[in-house]
Amino acid sequence: MSFGDGYLTKKELVEYNKNANTKVLVEIQSKEIVGFSIVQVIAKAELKSYLFLDENWCKKQTSNSKTIGYRKMTAVKPNSQGTGIGKLLLERGDAFLANQTKQIFSTVWQSENEAPMLSILQNSGYSIIDTVTNYWSEDSQEKKYKCQLCGEPPCKCSAIILKKELG
Ligand SMILES: CC(C)(COP(=O)(O)OP(=O)(O)OC[C@H]1O[C@@H](n2cnc3c(N)ncnc32)[C@H](O)[C@@H]1OP(=O)(O)O)[C@@H](O)C(=O)NCCC(=O)NCCS
Repeated sequence: MSFGDGYLTKKELVEYNKNANTKVLVEIQSKEIVGFSIVQVIAKAELKSYLFLDENWCKKQTSNSKTIGYRKMTAVKPNSQGTGIGKLLLERGDAFLANQTKQIFSTVWQSENEAPMLSILQNSGYSIIDTVTNYWSEDSQEKKYKCQLCGEPPCKCSAIILKKELG
């Protein structure tokens, strides 16, 4: 699976699994984990730190609801990609969030005009609300993770921010 080296540590994954507001979804086929997805229910006040965006931006984009759904990441093993696992994990995650929130936000990695998760989210009711350049620059320097494209920090990739409004 292909996030930058150090982007998700084992310690973080264990913490996510213990947190009732976080769901780590895994797809197992032939006793092997072939994909996973992490979704979280967060307080509205936390959104700006999750999205690395400012308070005004968050105020404009959020409704009155106290909680927000956040899709942290989804990845499928390379040789299992294109077989519907990403879409399945997305649907399971959104079903978990729909019980507790009215809005879900997601950040999609974009580089050299490629955004693998974008069409999957758009086909599932997400709309693009912003595009931010050098999105992971500060975070990659702070946490010292290596982007698979940029290598050593800072990461220069852009992010597309999407939102889904639940009825
Ligand atoms: C992005 C990713 C999670 C998609 O998972 P997947 O299991 O391969 O996707 P699925 O087979 O469920 O495909 C779902 C839909 O997305 C489309 N799709 C899948 N990969 C795509 C790509 N690279 N570019 C454009 N569309 C794509 C499929 O055609 C399918 O469309 P359909 O429902 O109209 O048939 C997977 O390719 C992956 O792990 N990539 C590397 C990690 C990554 O980039 N994660 C996202 C970071 S933002």
